[in-house]
Amino acid sequence: MTAWLLDPGVLHLNHGSFGATPAAVLEAQQGIRERIELNPTRFFLEGEYQERLDQARRAVAHFVGADEAGLVFVTNATAGVNAVFRSLEPSLEPGDEILVTDHEYNACTNAAIVSASRAGAVVTTAAVPFPLEHEREVVDAVVAAVTERTRILLIDAVTSATGLVLPVAELVARLEPDVRVLVDAAHAPGMIDFDVSRLGASYVTANCHKWMCSAKGAAFLWVRPDRRDDVYPAVISHGYNGGWPSEGGHLHAQFDWTGTHDPSAWLTVPDALTTVEAMHPDGWPGVRNVIRERCLQGRERLVEALSIESPAPGDMIGAIASVPLPPADNSGSAIFDPLMGALRDRHGIEVPVFTWPAPPERVLRISAHLYNQQGDYDRLAEALVAELGT
Ligand SMILES: Cc1ncc(COP(=O)(O)O)c(C=O)c1O
Repeated sequence: MTAWLLDPGVLHLNHGSFGATPAAVLEAQQGIRERIELNPTRFFLEGEYQERLDQARRAVAHFVGADEAGLVFVTNATAGVNAVFRSLEPSLEPGDEILVTDHEYNACTNAAIVSASRAGAVVTTAAVPFPLEHEREVVDAVVAAVTERTRILLIDAVTSATGLVLPVAELVARLEPDVRVLVDAAHAPGMIDFDVSRLGASYVTANCHKWMCSAKGAAFLWVRPDRRDDVYPAVISHGYNGGWPSEGGHLHAQFDWTGTHDPSAWLTVPDALTTVEAMHPDGWPGVRNVIRERCLQGRERLVEALSIESPAPGDMIGAIASVPLPPADNSGSAIFDPLMGALRDRHGIEVPVFTWPAPPERVLRISAHLYNQQGDYDRLAEALVAELGT
């Protein structure tokens, strides 16, 4: 069995957007689905679901340095961010501010905008430079945007379009507890050394289906002990009035059941952790080192081909990296630039080209995973030169 199901006719340089799941994990997921279908009532109502869920939670909590009582599964990081903002709405007052950066993922900024508007609050934006020379520029930009009305900062551990590892620990240390920090760590676990409790933020949400390589639809939300009792999922279910009895405390009671769905992605996260760990003799630290080195070398190749300076210091790079491209000569307004389609259709390369910060400016983002080779980035560099005529 090959390790991944990725189409061998395509060059995959976009692990960052949706991850990729090893075949062995998908097989384990199918096993869970068959187990559920043998007798759904028994599975969900007679303890098996809760037992397996608690096992999966234990594995994830151990992997990210979190305590189990504070960790719940959600379908994706978007759901984690929505749960926090929805839970915060009742405590926001007119004129309060939710602070984001201009590197924030569009969907999550939208969640902030909707919750702010329900409460009469506003979303303010810290402009973080890109290219940049030092992570200090991020800290300075965010701290300068904090006012006495700022209630919460939404900040990425690793940014989406610009692929930067941000100094979130320093920001948390500077702002908490006066300003709550919600860390959108969608890319962090599995890509960078990431320890949830050490960070000290009020809230952390992260995907398992990106760099932990689980099946799709698995993510977690962790809440610091002093914030736990006020957090609810965006979808309210039985747990609200005690209808989902739980020995795991408030968060487990609210989030462990949010209506009928296929929990197999959550339940097989432990399989993803052991499967990827076994792909390198040094386990996860080895995997992280390899994919980061591969990404940095890939970025070097692109920077050379485009005759530009590296847009960010190497210590702000994990396994995704972005390079600015010459502005587009079209005036499209979509999140993705048409060059992405050209690279796919004419060169067989899947790699995202984001319009960032707004058209016609754009960036191309590479990803590196164990299935990528150095030659992949040579091929991308050649295709880019052909398309851009540089
Ligand atoms: C920084 C960041 N936050 C949130 C998300 C959303 O992830 P999901 O679609 O799994 O909710 C992404 C997706 O790429 C992201 O890059």
